[in-house]
Amino acid sequence: MPQTHPHPDVERVLLDEQQIRERITEIGEQIAADYADEPPILVGVLKGAVMVMADLARSIDLKVEMDWMAVSSYGSGTKSSGVVRILKDLSADISGRNVLVVEDIIDSGLTLKWLLSNLRSRGPKSVEICTLLRKPEAARVEIDVKYIGFEIPNEFVIGYGLDYSEDYRNLPYVGVLKRSVYEV
Ligand code: PRP
Repeated sequence: MPQTHPHPDVERVLLDEQQIRERITEIGEQIAADYADEPPILVGVLKGAVMVMADLARSIDLKVEMDWMAVSSYGSGTKSSGVVRILKDLSADISGRNVLVVEDIIDSGLTLKWLLSNLRSRGPKSVEICTLLRKPEAARVEIDVKYIGFEIPNEFVIGYGLDYSEDYRNLPYVGVLKRSVYEV
């Protein structure tokens, strides 16, 4: 059942289910066209990218493999520091392959910057990025992002994979979290 009322902790819905679905379908078609000759291995970054990966993979009409990495950024709570630790590595060997990293959000860009250099050291044929959301600060980091769903304002967003203290990931839309929830 579609949720007609936003969660009470949600200030406003930024992207509803239909907007997300339509954009992911467009990106999936673009990816299918770009990689028609040599399909990519999709690398989802846990846990936030789970929803994007599930919907994106189904919108790419190619034989695609899915794999996952879990990384943890050392930092003070909500800000990432750029120092990253691998909690779960890929199962696949990506040497000589086209890798497409799937992210839910690029905020500071530091996680991805580290991840890209790590993946590139494994000798893939190519590494590109697909993210559903990108925040303004990330535009200042020198990362080429091939597929971007939406540029969003610098607000605390949750839902569709994005959490606050592991909550709200299963909301079907992307919403702005009420300040009262995280400011005490
Ligand atoms: C989030 C998100 C990105 C990263 C982006 O993951 O999924 O991986 O932060 O932040 P950055 O651009 O500032 O580095 P998080 O570490 O919150 O883990 P999660 O996906 O398990 O929620």
